[in-house]
Amino acid sequence: MRQKDVDPKDRIILPLDVSSAQEAQKLVDKLTGHVGMFKIGLELIYSIMASLLVEENADAIGALRFFRNLMKSISGAHEFLDTKLADIPNTVGKASLAVSSMGVKFFNVHASAGLKAIEAAVANRGLSQVLGVTVLTSIGEEECRDSIFGDVPGKKVLYFAKMLKKAGASGIICSPQELVLLRENHELDDLLIVTPGVRPEWASTDDQKRVMTPGEAIKAGADYLVIGRPITKPPESVGSPVDAAKRIADEIQAALS
Ligand code: C5P
Repeated sequence: MRQKDVDPKDRIILPLDVSSAQEAQKLVDKLTGHVGMFKIGLELIYSIMASLLVEENADAIGALRFFRNLMKSISGAHEFLDTKLADIPNTVGKASLAVSSMGVKFFNVHASAGLKAIEAAVANRGLSQVLGVTVLTSIGEEECRDSIFGDVPGKKVLYFAKMLKKAGASGIICSPQELVLLRENHELDDLLIVTPGVRPEWASTDDQKRVMTPGEAIKAGADYLVIGRPITKPPESVGSPVDAAKRIADEIQAALS
């Protein structure tokens, strides 16, 4: 069942895919109020960690303070820590304990880590919600079939969705192309659906393969859309990142009404 009463712009999750807390803060300052949530992922986490450890960083404490302020500025209901945990259940469980102690709204686990690993994350979720990454949107059909997934994306995403539901996860991350299949399975109705791989018609697809436009994804049943480069690096004809976010929110609004 789609989450109701969510403002169209609040359905946009902006990934802070940059390599410093300073760049991330600039995006947060620019786009707060124009998107609903900010996602902190592997690029930013490891870049900050690396910058703190290099010997030339004379002011590591200052840099840590800056990072803490960044986290505060996106805290509360607006934080998605894209942890992409994929490990044995004990490790996933312990990492989840640390992550949930930060009070983020969402964090995630690769569903391919298995039922027990997802259960371990759910057991230690605290007040956070656990989402399951299924098949990355950068993986095409052939690669999905030939890799450890061993089948076409649709079938694997449905399999993972049922596993996530069984483990008590709050939601699923998949391509918008799999949404029709998920929405046909009403026992999965209470899973929140978050879709990356979203590209407005005016944007380049970059490395994403299984994509849809924001309007199509919303019509197909997505609750939240993760949209990065089309907003942070919009084509000149669209204007600034704020213009791009507004255009996408309008498209979401039109699809909902
Ligand atoms: O710039 P773009 O819109 O492609 O950014 C997509 C974001 O969503 C990235 O931060 C990426 O890590 C994340 N993501 C994804 N596909 C998944 C899960 C997460 O692209 N299946």
